[in-house]
Amino acid sequence: MNNEYAISVNNVGKTYRSRRGQENTVLEGLDFHVEPGRFVSIVGQSGSGKTTLLKTVSGLQEPTEGEILVHGRPIQEGIEDIAMVFQSPVLLPWRNNLDNVLLPLEFRGARTDEARAYAMELLEMVGLGGKAKNYSYELSGGMQQRVAICRALVSRPKLLLMDEPFGALDAMTRDSMNFEIQRIWQTTGCSVLFVTHSIPEAVWLGDRVVVVGDRPGRIIADIPIDLPRPRGKEHRYSADFSGYTSEIESHIGVVAGIS
Ligand SMILES: Nc1ncnc2c1ncn2[C@@H]1O[C@H](COP(=O)(O)OP(=O)(O)OP(=O)(O)O)[C@@H](O)[C@H]1O
Ligand SMILES: [Mg+2]
Repeated sequence: MNNEYAISVNNVGKTYRSRRGQENTVLEGLDFHVEPGRFVSIVGQSGSGKTTLLKTVSGLQEPTEGEILVHGRPIQEGIEDIAMVFQSPVLLPWRNNLDNVLLPLEFRGARTDEARAYAMELLEMVGLGGKAKNYSYELSGGMQQRVAICRALVSRPKLLLMDEPFGALDAMTRDSMNFEIQRIWQTTGCSVLFVTHSIPEAVWLGDRVVVVGDRPGRIIADIPIDLPRPRGKEHRYSADFSGYTSEIESHIGVVAGIS
């Protein structure tokens, strides 16, 4: 039954057509399901269709084949349950951080005192309670991305889609963001699809790692990650962890023809 799943991707394909009529099939025969509350990492070569997949799951784009159900409903009906975080935070420079976080609720006419209190709670949770009245240009890149994550969470989404959210951050900030996102996910209980180019990040965060092969994008491996939660730094140096990363590397290598 589809209803038990947070996301059902049923035989999905996506073909882009250019103005000159050229066709580019980016995704083909994608079929996978995500149980509620799961953290699913997605890795794959550049251009394999990961962003296209997230945009299709979010309803920003329609699939050309198949269907996507979110909590058992066609995506077009359930869009309010979904939030997306992009690689760059895209904050509005004329609004302070609290007002940036509240933006999605303002669009829906739901900027209430309760919403404001929750937005403050989220900022506190990511260590930015003291920066609520500051502007984005006064923050570091990692802090800005934390504000963008609060903006995604403020509408209490059941499904959080993240497209390389930490790609632009330095290694140390990225490390601490990994801990933070694990904590946020465990606190809120939402389901997450998390696209990354970093295989260690995918393994460390994920309950599963889905490997997307390219031309056209399809799932070439779906690997359950059986490491205890909450995960700490020590898990990155375990034999099990290295086993998972090399298994995934070998899948990506095969597709790229470099193994
Ligand atoms: N709106 C669009 N119109 C036409 N082609 C597109 C569009 N968006 C993406 N593509 C093409 O689809 C393919 C997959 O792009 P996509 O952005 O989904 O890849 P990706 O896996 O996210 O790559 P990266 O890891 O570099 O972000 C590419 O060949 C790209 O040129
Ligand atoms: Mg992408």
